[in-house]
Amino acid sequence: MPDSLKQNVQWFPGHMAKTRRQIKEFLPQVDAVVEVLDARVPESSRNPELSELIGNKPRIVLLNKCDMADTVATQRWIAHFKKESAAVLPVDCKSGKGLNHFIPLMKEVLQPVIQKNIERGMGGKTIRLMVVGIPNTGKSSFINKMSKRNRAAVADKAGVTRQSRWFVIGNGIELLDTPGVLWPKFDDPKVGDKLAFIGSVKDTVFDIETLAVRLLEVMQKDYADRLMERYKISDFEDDMPWELLERIAKKRGMIQRGGVPDTERAAVMLLDEYRGGKLGKITLDSLEQENG
Ligand code: G4P
Repeated sequence: MPDSLKQNVQWFPGHMAKTRRQIKEFLPQVDAVVEVLDARVPESSRNPELSELIGNKPRIVLLNKCDMADTVATQRWIAHFKKESAAVLPVDCKSGKGLNHFIPLMKEVLQPVIQKNIERGMGGKTIRLMVVGIPNTGKSSFINKMSKRNRAAVADKAGVTRQSRWFVIGNGIELLDTPGVLWPKFDDPKVGDKLAFIGSVKDTVFDIETLAVRLLEVMQKDYADRLMERYKISDFEDDMPWELLERIAKKRGMIQRGGVPDTERAAVMLLDEYRGGKLGKITLDSLEQENG
């Protein structure tokens, strides 16, 4: 792959500065922070600045979109977060699966705070939580499902910022919606790639064919069986990823005049199908890889 395709991405420092300000502004008003991660990329969808920003405020990690992530990998990530003493909950905010465990877990995490409130004669004091995460991880969907009022508009574009608002979710608990936490830049280009695969970074930032080729490179290594199954291709271990894209284009009848495979159309289709879950449950951040 040419070096020009491996370039790093500089991304929206202005947005991150605003988020940083808002987190600092609202942090004293909340009892805990809910960090929404995408279970397909639990590491890459973390904001590296968050820990420093929230200090020792209790945190609950929501591994969202579990319905699209590799179940075995999700179990490994849960164990990993627990080892770091984080409270972690695998959920699917589209269907609501797993969310019934949220309030019990939150009460467990905030037991010392709740106990203190009771001792001060303020047992009924509202518990307030700040919801943070990078764009598209499912923050609005989580708030919608929890508040059951459909008041948080679910945005379908990455990087949409909104005013901060409080949502009552019953039982004396309120959620604060904040704009997505963004990276000032990706130090590791692989993180940028993964966020683009899942649709958290706008496609316009990248060349679509380059992106598809990079996704194929990852899948060829870890999920070759899915490619075989979906696109009915085999014996591609020795193919270069761009050759694989050409084969997929041909298989799908995406041929330009002169018999040239239409790799741009194939790239759009591949990314759509990946994002739509048609390639199965796939986790792109692997613990063994990161640790090894
Ligand atoms: P954000 O506030 O963090 O930016 O994310 P948001 O809730 O807007 O969710 C982004 C997209 O992810 C939405 O899809 C939403 O439906 C989807 N989503 C959220 N949680 C889950 C989940 O657990 N599983 C799955 N499969 N999808 C989830 P969209 O295409 O933008 O909108 P739509 O499909 O709801 O119309």
